[in-house]
Amino acid sequence: KTKIINIDSKNIDIEKIKEAASLLTNGEVVAFPTETVYGLGANALDESAIKKIFLAKGRPSDNPLIVHINSKNELDKLVNFVPSIAEKLMDAFWPGPLTLIFEKNSNVPKIVTGGLETIAVRMPSHIVARKIIEYSLVPIAAPSANISGKPSPTMCEHVIHDLDGKIASIVCSDSSSIGLESTVLDITGEVPMILRPGGITKEMIESIVGRILIDPAIKKKHDQNLIAKSPGMKYRHYSPKADVIVFNGSKKNIVKKMKIELENYLKKGKKVGLMCTEEILSQINDVFSISLGSIKDMDLVGNKLFYVLREFDKLDIDIIFAEGFSEEGIGSAIMNRLNKSAGNNIINCD
Ligand code: TXA
Ligand code: MG
Repeated sequence: KTKIINIDSKNIDIEKIKEAASLLTNGEVVAFPTETVYGLGANALDESAIKKIFLAKGRPSDNPLIVHINSKNELDKLVNFVPSIAEKLMDAFWPGPLTLIFEKNSNVPKIVTGGLETIAVRMPSHIVARKIIEYSLVPIAAPSANISGKPSPTMCEHVIHDLDGKIASIVCSDSSSIGLESTVLDITGEVPMILRPGGITKEMIESIVGRILIDPAIKKKHDQNLIAKSPGMKYRHYSPKADVIVFNGSKKNIVKKMKIELENYLKKGKKVGLMCTEEILSQINDVFSISLGSIKDMDLVGNKLFYVLREFDKLDIDIIFAEGFSEEGIGSAIMNRLNKSAGNNIINCD
């Protein structure tokens, strides 16, 4: 049975931290809160512990894990050398939602890195995560604590929903303050490259190290004008049960197009739900909706995204119409998750 451990982040009970940490030290899998999303942790240097992560999540074995550390000293257990650009980035953004890709050393079992010679490392800022890692005395590999393909968990109840009965323990604390996974930045090449946009934006990184690149694969298919016709061709991730369609363009045109498509789907007898900001919702009546908050607070939109996708799973909805956003700042991470949850079902409304 999965042991639920409740820890108040404002008043940490060290005995509970030790309980979770000793499970990790002993090769068990434990879910715990971080500032980005809840993670599913195991000792990064223990191959059989790591296997339990892949099993619990149903994760493909070639998808590498992020290793979480509590102090920079622990880097020595994982990487051969620390480039000077990494020092600058760690000073600027650690602890926090920036994952750096290094060349791995031979201590780290290959299963952690999905067979790659590189390793992803991050120092989270959440106090409960930090204490658990500290007391476990080992680096902790942790993917997001969801079943593979589902939206990442930003609340403990999401983890319990996905993983209760499948892992040794779930540490419950507050909901994630960021709500989107960390930015993954590859610093092994000549120019750093963002492999996954996240809480630390391109603009923030460039203010420290100058111009960087974005993996072209992130941009691919964004300007597709049609709804993908072949469901088998869609790559889905962060996916609720309902289909998701993203509406891109000016706010005025999004409203216009959503109203047209709403009629079309209602005629076909489909149940539609809207996932939009208040500003859009106030212009479309008589349809079920869950608000993403105000367009004026994009950090909150990002914070609510996975939560809202999971809320839709509690309802009997066939199609979710999602508002698209501009890709500046945190918008880049939001649109990356949204487009994946839609399997690139994107309508350009302009
Ligand atoms: O915010 C986060 O990063 C959360 C919390 C728990 O820390 N973790 C997380 O892990 O999102 P996961 O496993 O869901 O996502 C890890 C991402 C994947 O896209 C994976 O492909 C990439 O990091 N990654 C890991 N190691 C890599 C490597 N060596 N090279 C390239 N990409 C790597
Ligand atoms: Mg994940």
